[in-house]
Amino acid sequence: MTEKMPAVPVIAIDGPSASGKGTIAQRVAEALGFHYLDSGALYRLVALAALQADLGLDDETALAALAKGLDARFGGTEIMLSGQNVTAEIRSEACGMGASRIAALPRVREALLARQRAFRQVPGLVAEGRDMGTVVFVDATLKVFLTASAEVRAERRYKQLKEKGIDANIRTLLRELRERDQRDSARSVAPLQMAVDARELDSTGLGIDEIVRQVLDWYRQKVAGL
Ligand code: DC
Repeated sequence: MTEKMPAVPVIAIDGPSASGKGTIAQRVAEALGFHYLDSGALYRLVALAALQADLGLDDETALAALAKGLDARFGGTEIMLSGQNVTAEIRSEACGMGASRIAALPRVREALLARQRAFRQVPGLVAEGRDMGTVVFVDATLKVFLTASAEVRAERRYKQLKEKGIDANIRTLLRELRERDQRDSARSVAPLQMAVDARELDSTGLGIDEIVRQVLDWYRQKVAGL
């Protein structure tokens, strides 16, 4: 009588900075009517809260406590921290770099685990980050590892910043991306790596629609047991 309920489906999309995970994950979630988790935003929120509280970015005990008690709310496309709209602020390079540093601390990662898993709600979830398929949702229905060359990623980030009216230098962006890749891949806890059961998708030279279609095709094949 105790028939096991099928788990809520999860599509895990991991990959390096600026590989297009955010856009792709949101579009896939929209197409399927699934919830969406931007796990990087959680690390960025902890970094912002730490900067605001003047905490050292290596004070693991204080940062883990901060992560645990974080008053964060995700409403549509808006992200709130302690009642303040920080949607744009957390996208700054300072928050990105800070996030990359605190993300190397095991107790901070541990403190954010339950919060990430709570996003798994019916009818399903598309979760993007660095360790969605390897740590947070190991039983995900589909795992995708989205890559693109560093040059293409730097170019995309440059265009995004320009569109927002933010001045940027492509060489600096490329250097910062490589630094972040290096730190995210070399850390000892949950490093950026492809899950053994993930499918790799190199988006260099592909358009957004093509990538979304590929992820949806893979998901439908999985669900159909193909
Ligand atoms: O995806 P993003 O650039 O917003 O992520 C910001 C930083 O957070 C990134 O440098 C690495 C870290 N991060 C992580 O360690 N694990 C995740 N699941 C998501 C992000």
